[in-house]
Amino acid sequence: MTQPRGQWSGRLGFILAAAGSAIGLGNLWKFPYMAYENQGGAFVLIYIVAVLAVGIPIMMAEILLGRRYQKSPVGAFLRAGADKVGGKLWAGVGFLGVTAGFVILSYYSVVAGWTIHYILMAIAGKLGELARQPELLQNHFVNEFLQNSRLQITYHLVFMALTTAAVYFGVKRGIERVARYLMPILFGILFFLLIYSATTPGFGRAIGFLFQANFAAVDRYGFLEAMGQAFFSLSLGMGAMLTYGSYMNRSGSIPKSTLQISALDTLIGLVACVIMFSIIFSFDMEIQKSSSILFTTLPTVLVQLPGGNWVNGLFYLLIAFAALTSTISLLEVVSSFAIDELKWSRRRATLTMGSSIAVFGILNALSNGASAPLSTFNPLGRSSTAGVFGTLDFLAANWFLPVGGLLIALFVGWFLGRRDAREELEAGHGVMTGFGVWRFLIRFVAPIAVAAIIVSVILGYEYQ
Ligand code: TRP
Repeated sequence: MTQPRGQWSGRLGFILAAAGSAIGLGNLWKFPYMAYENQGGAFVLIYIVAVLAVGIPIMMAEILLGRRYQKSPVGAFLRAGADKVGGKLWAGVGFLGVTAGFVILSYYSVVAGWTIHYILMAIAGKLGELARQPELLQNHFVNEFLQNSRLQITYHLVFMALTTAAVYFGVKRGIERVARYLMPILFGILFFLLIYSATTPGFGRAIGFLFQANFAAVDRYGFLEAMGQAFFSLSLGMGAMLTYGSYMNRSGSIPKSTLQISALDTLIGLVACVIMFSIIFSFDMEIQKSSSILFTTLPTVLVQLPGGNWVNGLFYLLIAFAALTSTISLLEVVSSFAIDELKWSRRRATLTMGSSIAVFGILNALSNGASAPLSTFNPLGRSSTAGVFGTLDFLAANWFLPVGGLLIALFVGWFLGRRDAREELEAGHGVMTGFGVWRFLIRFVAPIAVAAIIVSVILGYEYQ
C-alpha cells in the first residue's frame, strides 16, 4: 500500500518551507563570520555573483527534476536517467545527496542544540548575568559548555526529536506547518534587530564594510568559500530542493519561486551581517575568534538593551527557529529516500533515520568533546580541519555539495533534453523569457565554475 505523495498546500507553503530550509545557521552564523574574515565588500559581491550565476540555475534544475519525476533524489535520478547514457548510474547522485544529508544533519544538529542551552539560560536569568561580564560568558562557553559533552548531547537529542517530530507529521501537517509558524516570527525578530542596529553608531561603518569592495582582501580561497557558501546557504547540491520540489503543484511557477527563495536567503544573510557588524563596530569589540561571535560577543552587547536578558533569549530563539526549519529539510531528504525507494511508511522512515542520525551525532559530539579547544574549533569554517565537526563540514561544503551540484547541472544541462526542461520550467509559469539564459548558465557557467572550485580545492589544500 503506497500512500499518495504529500503536497504543499500551495505556492506560499512551498516558498516558506524552501526558504526555511535555506535560511539557517549558514545565514546567521557562517555567512557573517566568513564575510568578516574576508573583509566584507568584495567577498559579498563574489557571493552574490555566485548565487546569480550558479546557485539560482542549479536551484531551478533541482526543483524541476523533483517536480517532473515526483520522487526524492535517488528515485528521481533513477527515473530521469533510465533512458539516458549512464542509466542507473545517475542514481549515484541521489545516494551522494542522501549521504550528505545524513552527515550534515549529524553535526548541524549538535550546533543547533547549543541555542537551546542559551535559551534556557535566558529563561533562568543566567544569560543576562554572564553577558554583563564578557570574560564570564567567554569562559562559560569555552571552558564549561564546550567541555561538557553530556549537556551538548542532551540538547542535540532534543533538537533531533523536534526535527523528527516535524518530519513525522508529513509534508503539509508537519514540514509546512512548522515553516508557516516559524518563518514569520523569524522575519519579525530579525527586523526588530535590524532596526535596533540602525540606531547604533556602528551602523554606517557596517554598511560601508559590507558594500565597499576591496578585492585585494580576497585571496583565491575567498572565491572558493563564497561559492561553497552559496551552495550551503541555498541548500543545494544534495537534493533538498529537489525533494521539496517533488511536493510542488504543477500550477506553481518554478522560476518565480526560485528567485523568491534565493532573494530571501541572500537578504537574510546580509541582514545578519548588518546586525552583527553594527554591534561589533559600535562597541569596538575585540574579535578573537570570529566563528564564536555568535555565542560570546553578541550577547554581551544585546544585554545592554532594556530587558537585555530577554532580548538575548529572543535572539537565540530566532537562531533555533532558523536551524529547525533547516534540519527538517535535511531529515526529509534522508527519510523520503526510505519512503520512496525502500517503501517504508513515513512513520518507520522518520523514526529510524532520525534516531540513526541522532546516534551518529552523539559520536561526533563525543569525539569532539573535551579535546577541542576553541582556538582550533571552528565547526562551520574552512580553516578548521581540526575537530570532527570541522572535518565533516569541510567534507560536506567543499566536496559533497559542489560535486553533487556539478552532476546535477551536467545532467539537467546535457542529458535531460531541452524540451523536457523547458516544459517543466514553463508549467505553471507560462513562456519563460529567460530560458535561454538559464540554459546557458546550467550548461556552461555553473559546471565550469564549480569544476574550477573543485580543482583548486584539490590543488590548493594539498600543499597548505
Ligand atoms: N541552508 C541551510 C543553512 O544555511 C543548511 C541546509 C539545510 C542545507 N538543508 C541543506 C545545506 C541541504 C545543504 C544542503 O543553514
